[in-house]
Amino acid sequence: MLIFGTRPEAIKMAPLVKTLQARPERFTTIVAVTGQHRQMLDQVLHLFDIVPDYDLDIMKQGQDLTDVTCRILTGMRDVLGEAKPDVVLVHGDTSTSTAAALSAFYAHVPVGHVEAGLRTGDIYSPWPEEMNRRMTGRIATYHFSPTETSRDNLLRENVDGRFISVTGNTVIDALHMVVDKIDGDSCLESSICDGLAAAGYDLRTRLADGTRRLVLVTGHRRENFGTGFLNICNAIKDLAAKYPEVDFVYPMHLNPNVRRPIAEVFSDIEHANVFFIEPLEYLPFVYMMKRSYLIITDSGGIQEEAPSLGKPVLVMRDVTERPEALEAGTIRLVGTDRDKIFNEASHFLDDKKYYEDNSLIANPYGDGQACSRIADVLDSIPMGS
Ligand code: UD1
Ligand code: UDP
Repeated sequence: MLIFGTRPEAIKMAPLVKTLQARPERFTTIVAVTGQHRQMLDQVLHLFDIVPDYDLDIMKQGQDLTDVTCRILTGMRDVLGEAKPDVVLVHGDTSTSTAAALSAFYAHVPVGHVEAGLRTGDIYSPWPEEMNRRMTGRIATYHFSPTETSRDNLLRENVDGRFISVTGNTVIDALHMVVDKIDGDSCLESSICDGLAAAGYDLRTRLADGTRRLVLVTGHRRENFGTGFLNICNAIKDLAAKYPEVDFVYPMHLNPNVRRPIAEVFSDIEHANVFFIEPLEYLPFVYMMKRSYLIITDSGGIQEEAPSLGKPVLVMRDVTERPEALEAGTIRLVGTDRDKIFNEASHFLDDKKYYEDNSLIANPYGDGQACSRIADVLDSIPMGS
């Protein structure tokens, strides 16, 4: 049984669902979603054509961590009691991941942790994700680490090395699936552009003459709520004024804490080159990443995707659990300091050589075969009785 509930987990678990479903002689694949996200989860389920067997549908506006955790614990108790899976797979560091792992433990079902072993070393950054992944890691029996670095983090915590497999990150599997789809279908680009225009950014027209550049922005981290997000919005405002020939496109997370500062900072000014749009489906979002010059984000997943696309990223955090992307040179930590975001983005926009030196394609998160490695490991475990 694969359990997930938010957009990034769904993107990273979808290719694994497909891989396991493709081996029906070995696996009965059950998909349980918590619905911690609703619309943003459904976008991914739709893209990958996944129909969950169970859907707890827990999302409430303004939910807090306790709400989410309690609803999942009670909901999953019943699901696990009925489905009685041999093993539960959870992903990463969300509340869904940790609460589902705990539910499985209570039901005596072993847990496999996909994207295991990422650490910043600071339990409040990112919050609550760093503690979530540590707790999920304690509960898990099988650990699927994306890189050697994440495996070493687990070994340092005395996890038995026989149960850790370095697989690459399944997000690269998802990225490859989507990039192949875009590259392999000439009509698709046109329909993506139609969709983007309907969403409020007419990329085809805006970037038509080849002189304008695109900066893509996303943000949602809890520790950046309040002042952090006001700083981020003000930095974008400063950049948009300095670079009228650059478009800044910000697909906004649905969390009201993300949208409030945007409304506050941009209420009185009309910027012809700033576009706030609704969250994009993964396919158009990947297309936008491919077409972008620079990405500014606090996202975890985008830090992993960007090196494979050769796109530099300014990461609006003080620490990262993705040191491989730092080593690859594609990401820069800028925190939520207004001047730092402005100065570093200006550096990338002004200095061609700096840009080229820091936008080389690298694949520290894998070759797109993580899911088949995970399936092979699962296949080698004796299960059922
Ligand atoms: C969650 C994860 C975070 C992950 C992020 C990815 C936790 C604690 N946080 O944070 O690790 O990086 O997802 O985006 O697990 N909302 C909607 N519709 C949606 C999704 C969200 O309306 O489809 C709104 C709701 O008002 C909801 C709020 O966003 O209450 C917050 O959602 P929640 O899942 O609690 O937190 P995220 O910040 O999305
Ligand atoms: N993403 C998307 N649409 C958007 C913004 C992001 O599909 O409008 C994808 C992005 O490519 C990445 C994932 O969502 O794969 C990251 O999700 P998010 O930033 O919400 O969560 P995190 O990775 O920080 O946990």
